[in-house]
Amino acid sequence: MASMSWDEAFSERYDAWAADTTADVPFYVGLAREADGPIVELAVGTGRVAIPVALATGRPVVGIDASPGMLRQARAHAAEAGVDLTLVEGDMRDLALREPAALIYCPFRALLHLRTWADRRRVFERVAASLRPGGRFAWNAFAFDHRVAIRVDGVRHEGPLPHTVRYAVGDNRIDLLLDGGGTSSLWWATKNEWLGLLDVAGLQLEALYGGFEREPLTDDSTEYVFVARR
Ligand SMILES: C[S@@+](CC[C@H](N)C(=O)[O-])C[C@H]1O[C@@H](n2cnc3c(N)ncnc32)[C@H](O)[C@@H]1O
Repeated sequence: MASMSWDEAFSERYDAWAADTTADVPFYVGLAREADGPIVELAVGTGRVAIPVALATGRPVVGIDASPGMLRQARAHAAEAGVDLTLVEGDMRDLALREPAALIYCPFRALLHLRTWADRRRVFERVAASLRPGGRFAWNAFAFDHRVAIRVDGVRHEGPLPHTVRYAVGDNRIDLLLDGGGTSSLWWATKNEWLGLLDVAGLQLEALYGGFEREPLTDDSTEYVFVARR
């Protein structure tokens, strides 16, 4: 099933796009080490985080993604690394697990690919229904900065791959348009929107950090790093 906000052409270039993103891996690995039961990554992509998690814990990781292209790469990378990933093609809005999870996590702002509040609410409700009592849900997303969005709107960037950013003010959306094809759209959300999603899903906020070193969230933080519990 193709995602509504993820262009398959982006998949072929994803590893190069994400090559510099590494700071989140130890954070999610740390949570996985503490998880006493099944571990699930939503929007697993090419396995960038799931493979180190599986290597560090010695446990299988279930990875769900809507993109066949991303999953193909995850399968190849997992085989190369010799780790056990259970890769499932599906939409995170339809999350349904065989066994309740001890940890569900969603790195690299992937929840921002969900277009509407209703889409996100559905994911949070599915997550709550799929966790063991006391199980954790962790994710990160940028704290949206209008100043940055205005600065980059319409500008072509060279790194990490040549691309142009489009800022659609009326839709709270950022489009990343790769030169030569591939689009990824992100619908940004505020802190209160995330807290409201926890509230409607019946999950408890355990921690909200301003970065992957677990630094406190301040008025100047540019990333939300959330840990919630059922
Ligand atoms: C930025 S990548 C993140 C990949 C990986 N988690 C990582 O951290 O490198 C976003 C991923 O979200 C997936 N995705 C987008 N919408 C989705 C949805 N509704 N359900 C499942 N996967 C989705 C895309 O296919 C893509 O693989």
